[in-house]
Amino acid sequence: MTLTGRRILLGISGGIAAYKSPELVRRLRDAGAEVRVVMTAGAEAFITPLTLQAVSGHRVRTHLLDPEAEAGMGHIELARWAEDIVIAPATAQVVAKLAHGFADDLLSTLVLASQARLWVAPAMNRLMWDAEPVRANVDQLVRGGARLLGPDRGEQACGEHGAGRMQEPDVIVSAMAGASERSRPLVGKRFVVTAGPTHEPLDPVRFLGNRSSGRMGFAVARMLVEAGATVDLVAGPVNLPTPPGVQRVDVVTAREMLEAVNRCIDAADGFVAVAAVADYRPEHEATDKLKKSGEPVTMHLVENPDILATVGHRQTRPFVVGFAAETRDLETSARSKLSAKGADLIAANRVGHELGFDREDNALEVFSAHRHWSLGPRSKCQLARELVDIIAGEMKARER
Ligand code: C5P
Repeated sequence: MTLTGRRILLGISGGIAAYKSPELVRRLRDAGAEVRVVMTAGAEAFITPLTLQAVSGHRVRTHLLDPEAEAGMGHIELARWAEDIVIAPATAQVVAKLAHGFADDLLSTLVLASQARLWVAPAMNRLMWDAEPVRANVDQLVRGGARLLGPDRGEQACGEHGAGRMQEPDVIVSAMAGASERSRPLVGKRFVVTAGPTHEPLDPVRFLGNRSSGRMGFAVARMLVEAGATVDLVAGPVNLPTPPGVQRVDVVTAREMLEAVNRCIDAADGFVAVAAVADYRPEHEATDKLKKSGEPVTMHLVENPDILATVGHRQTRPFVVGFAAETRDLETSARSKLSAKGADLIAANRVGHELGFDREDNALEVFSAHRHWSLGPRSKCQLARELVDIIAGEMKARER
């Protein structure tokens, strides 16, 4: 079991179990990880930053607004650097803050600003662990995609006996290493992903477009990389950072998107079309800005190429996944798209009032010719992770 090269941020909060944290840093480094440490103010009551600096080999950060530390690796950089954030020990206070999105110290801010996998190793008195608000906060964290480590049962520092002990460092390291091996089922596979809207110009300043934010497509690209795949991401006009490890090509129109896809699809094992491609474009783009004339205007639109169907109907084609945003008859429309587009999977979502475009959360109904999975509602990242698991499983089943 190995964590070779993994960039792990360890967050230590103020519990007696913080005495186990140096040992955890050692074990993580023995498994090959690079570890940086952030401590809350409470943690410093139990253990010194100097100890953690000695075992991690890096300066330990304790404050959000520390000009000297920010001049080195700023907190946003640190949030981006991390592939995993593990909070051990996690007190009831930290669990509550993370569950509710607080950002009033360095650790909680980092978690909010990061796309890293979050691991939480709670440590607290057994009655606190059983308390209803703590249970609700833990549930909330897990729903948001956090992975829970423990707690263990046993003798507690307060002399009581029950659940609430921090998991032992070697058990935490095995869980993290095991997940990292299991969760890379797409090593050696190449994917092309489309994301975002397309903009179809009317004149030099106006376009036809839609409200797609690109978040779902970017999350899918990121989770494919996490699963070990090599990813070409063809992105329409969006305002999002490129996920780590992804090759990104920016395009504007549907025709440019198709061209970009065609350039990399030959080598691909999988294609995931998440983009909300404009179905139609103005037949002519005016060279000058259109002026109002006081009269109604008629615009002639022509159909754009269907990128998904073009790839889906190639003679030799990769594993093909399409998306479908539907306002009604979700299953019927999704199933008919499987054959119409030559797709192996269609991930359908209901768009409209609460879910869909330009929102953080979403829900997906995924259909293959013979199966159906219901995912969510949950964060687009978590949904993307589950969709990637389904893709990996179906690709593997076909190889057999
Ligand atoms: O037919 P409909 O637009 O609902 O299909 C949606 C699916 O087809 C999405 O996966 C989308 O990315 C893809 N699509 C495409 N090119 C188009 C229209 C849709 O790739 N011109």
